[in-house]
This record gives sequence, structure tokens and C-alpha cells, in this order.
Amino acid sequence: MAEFTLPANSVIKKGKYFKAADGATNVRRFVVYRYDPDSGENPRTDTFEVDLDNCGPMVLDALLKIKDEMDSTLSLRRSCREGICGSCSMNIDGGNTLACTQSIAAIKGDVKVYPLPHQHVVKDLVSDLTNFYAQLASVEPWMKTDTPAPPDRERLQSREDREKLDGLYECILCACCSTSCPSYWWNSDRYLGPAALLSAYRWIVDSRDEAAGERLDDLEDPFKLYRCHTIMNCTKVCPKGLNPAKAIAATKKLMVQRKI
Ligand code: SF4
Ligand code: SF4
Ligand code: FES
Repeated sequence: MAEFTLPANSVIKKGKYFKAADGATNVRRFVVYRYDPDSGENPRTDTFEVDLDNCGPMVLDALLKIKDEMDSTLSLRRSCREGICGSCSMNIDGGNTLACTQSIAAIKGDVKVYPLPHQHVVKDLVSDLTNFYAQLASVEPWMKTDTPAPPDRERLQSREDREKLDGLYECILCACCSTSCPSYWWNSDRYLGPAALLSAYRWIVDSRDEAAGERLDDLEDPFKLYRCHTIMNCTKVCPKGLNPAKAIAATKKLMVQRKI
């Protein structure tokens, strides 16, 4: 039987323990992944006791309280704190989601917080999304046209054509879907992943775009699109309730239909 061992420097060690202030009665433990590549040390998990009586209701509130009051060296991304910007995506309680919309009360036991899986870690909860953004850019997520725009108004769409974009345009590029996709874990250098493919489909079906054929040609590749095996992790985790797997399936169907 094959035996696998992790390189010694990748083993996650138990880190520091931070106690809540004396007198706190409503305490939850947050077990948080820590990694600083400049230190040369292994990653570790630090445990923070958070007084929930003096904390907002979401996991992001607790992480910011930890950073403000217990350990200012904790690194994380966030901006809007209301599920719009996509910055605070991380792995919480075993699933990818947004820290700002994940309620603490919905999690049982210790709250375990890790960076998005299968990405290089810049520091602590900040994962390196360089490849993710490059893949998004590769599908050219903007309107491409040959015909000139009307001189006196914008390019119009029928109500029906506009409705085809519902469930697609709302993507906030948080990367929760792509980083939960097993196909993306193993082939993220060549498989575009659900977020970029959802974006590609959003432009393929936009009635104002004039490059659908060219966009499909670009996806005609053994890896870019066809490494999706309909495992559906992407749809399960999307914090905006979108369905990238359905968009990918629809793109594959368009590929077949244009060959018939
Ligand atoms: S449906 Fe496709 S994109 Fe979504 S998780 Fe599965 S393999 Fe990945
Ligand atoms: S499809 Fe959903 S999970 Fe994926 S990047 Fe967009 S908002 Fe995030
Ligand atoms: S902080 Fe913007 S989505 Fe969470």
C-alpha cells in the first residue's frame, strides 16, 4: 500500500493559547490557522477565547476583536463586512464561506478558521489568489463587440435577454467555489475552475456581446472546461447562492450544439 508523508515543514503545530478577560461568562474558542513564511517556522493553530457578550454576531466580528484586542499580528482580508466585496472568504468550520456573513451561533463547538484550501498562503488567513485572478482575466470578462454602439444611446437588451444574466452577474469573486472544487485542487494550473467559467458563461449568453463563438473556441480544450466532473462542491458552498456547476454544464451543451 502506498504511504504518504507530509514534508516536515508543512505539519501544523499547536500554537499559543489566549484566554478571555477575567469575568467573561459567554466564551467561545476560536482555533485559527497561523503561518508566517518569513519566520521559517511551521504553521500552527492558535486558540483564542472570545467573550461573545462583547462581540458582534459574525465570525468576522470575532476575528477583528481578536486582532484588535488579543493579537494584532493576525492577518486577514476584509472590506465591506456585508457579503458584497468577496474579500473575507476563508474556510470556517470545514467549509468555504464569507467570514462576515457566517454567524458564530450557527457553529457548534470550537470555531475552526483556516485560509481557503489548496492555495499558497501569503500569511495566516490570506491566501494567494494570483492564479485565480489570472484565470478570470483569461476569459476576458468584459463586453466584446465588432459593431459600433448606437450614437445616441446605450446598447439595449430585451427584458428576456436581461433575465438570462440572473444568477450569473451577482458573482463577487470570493473564490469559495473554485477552492472547494477537487478538480481545481489537482489541476488549477490548467483547469479554469467554476468562478472563471461562470464568468465566461455570463458573457457567452449576454445578447449584447458579439464574441460568443470566439469565447467557446477558447474553452475547447481538454483542461480549461472539461475537467469539471459535476461534483457540485462549487454550488454547495457559493455564499451568494449561485450555481456555477449549472453554468458549466450549459457551456458544455453549447459546445455540443454548435457541432451538430
Ligand atoms: S461541479 Fe465542476 S466546478 Fe463544481 S466542484 Fe464539481 S468539478 Fe468543480
Ligand atoms: S460563484 Fe459564488 S462562490 Fe464562486 S466566486 Fe462567485 S460568488 Fe464566490
Ligand atoms: S468583508 Fe466583504 S464579503 Fe466579507
